[in-house]
Amino acid sequence: MDSITLTRPDDWHLHLRDGEALKAVLPDTARRFARAIVMPNLKPPVTRVAEAAAYRARILAAVPPGLSFTPLMTLYLTDNLPADEIDRAKECGIIHAVKLYPAGATTNADAGVTDLTKCTKTLARMERLGLPLLVHGEVTDPAVDIFDREAVFIDTVLAPLTKDFPALKVVLEHVTTREGVEFVKASGANVAATITAHHLLMNRNAIFSGGLRPHHYCLPVPKREVHRQALIAAATSGNPKFFLGTDSAPHARRAKEAACGCAGCYTAHAGIELYAEAFEAAGALDALEGYASFFGADFYGLPRNGEQITLVRERWRVPNELPYAADDVLVPLRAGETVGWRLEDMQ
Ligand code: DOR
Ligand code: ZN
Repeated sequence: MDSITLTRPDDWHLHLRDGEALKAVLPDTARRFARAIVMPNLKPPVTRVAEAAAYRARILAAVPPGLSFTPLMTLYLTDNLPADEIDRAKECGIIHAVKLYPAGATTNADAGVTDLTKCTKTLARMERLGLPLLVHGEVTDPAVDIFDREAVFIDTVLAPLTKDFPALKVVLEHVTTREGVEFVKASGANVAATITAHHLLMNRNAIFSGGLRPHHYCLPVPKREVHRQALIAAATSGNPKFFLGTDSAPHARRAKEAACGCAGCYTAHAGIELYAEAFEAAGALDALEGYASFFGADFYGLPRNGEQITLVRERWRVPNELPYAADDVLVPLRAGETVGWRLEDMQ
């Protein structure tokens, strides 16, 4: 098979940033994906419907002419997001989820939730209205080993949360462990997960191969090979609980190559092609369309896309760097190396 044609995919977890950076990165996503769930971890975070509407307008203004792209907005959960804001979010029709960052867990997570019991009313309203909670699933306790933070989160936060709110729609974002996969599989149909391409393609050795590799550092950090294998099995299984979310997270080169570098891998430049590589390596290219184009839309209760894209089996070289903002560039995943599938321009 030298090419594959699939229903145009969606990205159910994406960081677009704002301003010049937004304008620089959005075309990569809009060329490939029809829609994306846009993360709200701006500075300051997007915590209200009006802010999400204004951010959405800035995103739409940055879509290159000739491309169709729909941003699906999210609100950032804080200790004091009022339940009434959930009513407004549901009513306005442009907000599709609320994102839970445990306070301090990752980039711009300082305003995140310190204690979920502070959010009881808001979560109950989301459960009632069917607005999904998107979870960054890591505990922040520095005493917990960084490679165990997802598994501990599942036991101590996610399991009780799904018990307390049994009908709440929950997505365990960028799941990285076998424990996470097993939890999602064992839960009801209202609990799902996204898996990134970089977690399908890399295990934790990639952070240290030949030296310290800041561009492979993201959160949650990639885990051991057994966990990567569990992610591959889940993504290619045809189980609709697992769907595509790139977590493409651009940072300026100088913010990554620093004494204390930021977490995040930029993958939007090859946002579907990298998944094709991972699925092909698993002998499961036929499972790509469900994972990339159907299951996420079904979970969110949105129509599946009508258009198609074609990927051609052809190696291309990823540039060493891409434009980002004024004096900044970003380093995409596989910079200076190759990707084995190429996106054909849409007809
Ligand atoms: O690696 C990551 N980068 N993980 C996150 O959860 C946040 C993201 C970002 O915004 O840079
Ligand atoms: Zn993310």
